[in-house]
Amino acid sequence: MREAIAERTGVIRNVQEALGGSNSDLAVVVTGASGRTFVKAAPKVSPDEDGRQVRALRREVAINPCVPEFAPRLLWTVETGGWLAVGSEYVEGREADYSPGSPDLAALTEAIHHLQAIPCPDPVVMRVERRWEALADDVSPMAGNALLHTDLNPNNLLITADQCVYVVDWAFASRGAPWVEVGQVIPWLIHAGHAPAEAEQWAMQFPSWMDADPVIIDRYVYLTAERWAQISAARAAPNVPVNLSLARRWASHRQGPHQPNR
Ligand SMILES: Nc1ncnc2c1ncn2[C@@H]1O[C@H](COP(=O)(O)OP(=O)(O)O)[C@@H](O)[C@H]1O
Ligand SMILES: [Mg+2]
Repeated sequence: MREAIAERTGVIRNVQEALGGSNSDLAVVVTGASGRTFVKAAPKVSPDEDGRQVRALRREVAINPCVPEFAPRLLWTVETGGWLAVGSEYVEGREADYSPGSPDLAALTEAIHHLQAIPCPDPVVMRVERRWEALADDVSPMAGNALLHTDLNPNNLLITADQCVYVVDWAFASRGAPWVEVGQVIPWLIHAGHAPAEAEQWAMQFPSWMDADPVIIDRYVYLTAERWAQISAARAAPNVPVNLSLARRWASHRQGPHQPNR
């Protein structure tokens, strides 16, 4: 794999782990003779079987040409030695800061408005409502045809020195109701120091959020906490406890005037 990558980057001088990722087996910045390339890679289960990580990479590859206004450009893919590797344009940027008062919140807002304004590209086939279908009889309120990134955590928003904003990590892009994108972001605002009520206040700038029925949102928040509890029981990935505790904080804030109707 290293040789195959070197054929594309030129002789490899340095390989540095990319910080902030949560899903990939390998996410590195490769410095080769022709400069820096961002490389994500994952092993296949067998020559004929992809496995979870590789499927996620293939989804990113399929979506990349459809979202050039957001994503670093895909440069090449290579499959060898039982691995799939994907090379993209390297973006020299820092991760976003979602804390209260941060100027990066404006960049996040703009990215979400922009995402909600474009038609969902055909290669985006995952339906977001399926995430909750094991927990509820009717998940249709989450369904729709908007393009949702679904994982706009601050590590997935890169901001360059000249304030260009890139959205990375499209593996879980889905189609669904547009307010779900806003709902997926709120826990990250809470993580960065917003009180749940402040995070919800921020969300009110999005027409899709304002138009959504609060009872439906209560239910979504409740189901999201349940889902993280289920994931937490099934596997001990490092990001899971954080997601679970954020979802629970938000869910306990929502409990009040409209109790979730299970
Ligand atoms: N094109 C890129 N150029 C530079 N850094 C990147 C690029 N894409 C992603 N990164 C950095 O690598 C980290 C991990 O990549 P990401 O696609 O988010 O993988 P993961 O699925 O592991 O979260 C990101 O949080 C970001 O900091
Ligand atoms: Mg990521």
